[in-house]
Parts: sequence; structure tokens; C-alpha cells
Amino acid sequence: MTVGEHRPSEGPIVTVDGPAGSGKSSTAKAVARVLGYRHLDSGALYRALTLALLQEGIATDRWPDVSEEFLRALDVDMRPTDEAFSVWVGSRVVDSELRTEEVTDHVSHLARLPAVRGCLLDLQRRAGASGRLVADGRDMGTVVFPHAEVKVYLVADVAERARRRLLQEGAPTGGEADLALQIETITDRDRRDSERDISPLRKADDAHEIDTTRLDFQDQVAAVVTLVRRLTIS
Ligand code: DC
Repeated sequence: MTVGEHRPSEGPIVTVDGPAGSGKSSTAKAVARVLGYRHLDSGALYRALTLALLQEGIATDRWPDVSEEFLRALDVDMRPTDEAFSVWVGSRVVDSELRTEEVTDHVSHLARLPAVRGCLLDLQRRAGASGRLVADGRDMGTVVFPHAEVKVYLVADVAERARRRLLQEGAPTGGEADLALQIETITDRDRRDSERDISPLRKADDAHEIDTTRLDFQDQVAAVVTLVRRLTIS
């Protein structure tokens, strides 16, 4: 067991993985609230590192050459709050800046780099050191918390995921062209996330798959909470 890895005696860890737009983050956050656990949005860390590199003015074609040591010096950190974690770059808390188009466009290129994954692994494991955590991302159940008590893998049809993303962005969802473009963007991101060599998006062998295509949000949350209660209350 490496430093910061979760010890089962300390309280359950629930992992929620899945592709873009499957409802991971919103579901994980709501599930954490119902259970009184803390929520870890691991994607926010990849976004924070992307933001930090952009702010440093490092040209994107040089990102693959950046060392883990250099990335650590960018000082991306996380601190527990009552319900989740605040994300820091240096002395600043970052939040809305993490969701800009520029960050979203670059983050999946960064997320496939081994130095990046190495840099963020300990940080994520430390968040789980005392258990009672709902962690969402792409490799929570496979790599970061392989001993998690409950692993969930959310899936949904790509058209439904595209519709949800447009809704989230406040964009009109009725236009065929907007939807087609969003489907293309999501398919592209799924491909990059699943085909990368390191920590690809994949369902852990012991994960429970939930298809959310036809579930409304409350049912989605209830399905995960029921699963957690069934698997953790002995
Ligand atoms: O969930 P999100 O859209 O905030 O994730 C941003 C990017 O980070 C996405 O391209 C996948 C990547 N990511 C990852 O590779 N591993 C994680 N555990 C979380 C996110």
C-alpha cells in the first residue's frame, strides 16, 4: 500500500467513473451530500494544472516535455471544505476559471501525460485517506482507489450526454446542428480519454454499471445511494 492509499477501516470510499456528460460530477456531489461524505471532483485537478500551464505561458506543444518536478512546482493543491475540496493554484482558489472553453479544449491533451498523472495521484489519494469520500473521474475505481468499497460506472447514450452538456452550458438543445456538433466533441473526448495508454477511461472489473440515459437526476442519485447503503451497511 503506498502513502495516502485508502485503508478500509477508515470509512468507505465510493468511486463514480464514466464518460463526459454521463452525470458523474453532479451525481457524485448529490450522493456525497445525502451520505454526509466529502465530494472529490478529480477532473478539477486536471483542469487546474491545465490552467496553471496556460497562465505560465507554456506553449501547448511543449507540454509533453514538461517534467513531474516542474508540474509540482506549479503548486496545484486541494484543501478540504465542509462538503468537498477547494482547488488552489499557488495562493489562489480557482473555481469558475476551471470551466472556460480554453481549459476544456486543452485538458484532455494534458490528462494523457504520465508526468501529469504521477503529479496528481498522491494529491487524490490524500483526499481519500480518511474515507467517507465520493470521488468522481475517469480512473477513480481502476487506479486511484482500487480498494474502494463501492465502485460505480455511469454510462448514457452519446446523444443524451450531448443534450445534457448543452443544457449545462445554457445553450439551446433543440437545434440539430448544435446537437450534432456537441456529439462530435464528446465522441472525440471519449476517444482521447479511452484510448490513451495511461489510466484510460474504463470500467473497473468490480464496478456496478448504471445506465442513466432514461433516468432523471433524482433517480440516478437514489440508485447510487441505495447501492452504497446495500454494500456498506453490514
Ligand atoms: O470531468 P471533467 O470534464 O472535469 O474532466 C476534465 C478532463 O480531465 C477530461 O478530459 C478527462 C480528464 N480526467 C482524467 O483523465 N482523469 C480523471 N480522474 C478526471 C478527469
